[in-house]
Amino acid sequence: MATETTFSIIKPNAVKKNVIGGIIHKFEENGLKVSAAKLVVLSKTLCEEFYAEHKARPFFGELVTFMTSGPVLLMALTGENAVTRNREIMGATDPKKAAPGTIRALFGDNVGENSVHGSDSAASAARELALFFKKEEFVNR
Ligand code: RTP
Ligand code: MG
Repeated sequence: MATETTFSIIKPNAVKKNVIGGIIHKFEENGLKVSAAKLVVLSKTLCEEFYAEHKARPFFGELVTFMTSGPVLLMALTGENAVTRNREIMGATDPKKAAPGTIRALFGDNVGENSVHGSDSAASAARELALFFKKEEFVNR
């Protein structure tokens, strides 16, 4: 299995609850390293571009309003099989359906405010990382 880098967001509900550390701890204890990070408030334009694939979904407006409602932590996570591993650590989209011990089970509030985003494929990871980070913002570690 090759080393990969995936894209992760700690969403506004989790930042507000002050559980950034608890979430990053889960990544670290599962073999992922933070290789880029910044705390920002997303603009509506950038958020809509990020979630373009969901534009036609009924929850799109609500999703953009939530994701721009406060600070988020944008991260690159690097490790063996990072895309799939991150999705496993996050758990199912709906915290009620997420396996015990996963980030969404521990820190998610509801299906929208589910505490984290993670790229769903290597292609998505490449697109999302390029949208939010410049090359010089990645650290090799
Ligand atoms: P994500 O993209 O955030 O990692 O989550 P995901 O792949 O598990 O879920 P996805 O289907 O891509 O949905 C993106 C985000 O939209 C919100 N959502 N709300 N109200 C709803 O029924 C609903 N469904 C999805 C969630 O914040 C989800 O993470
Ligand atoms: Mg998704």
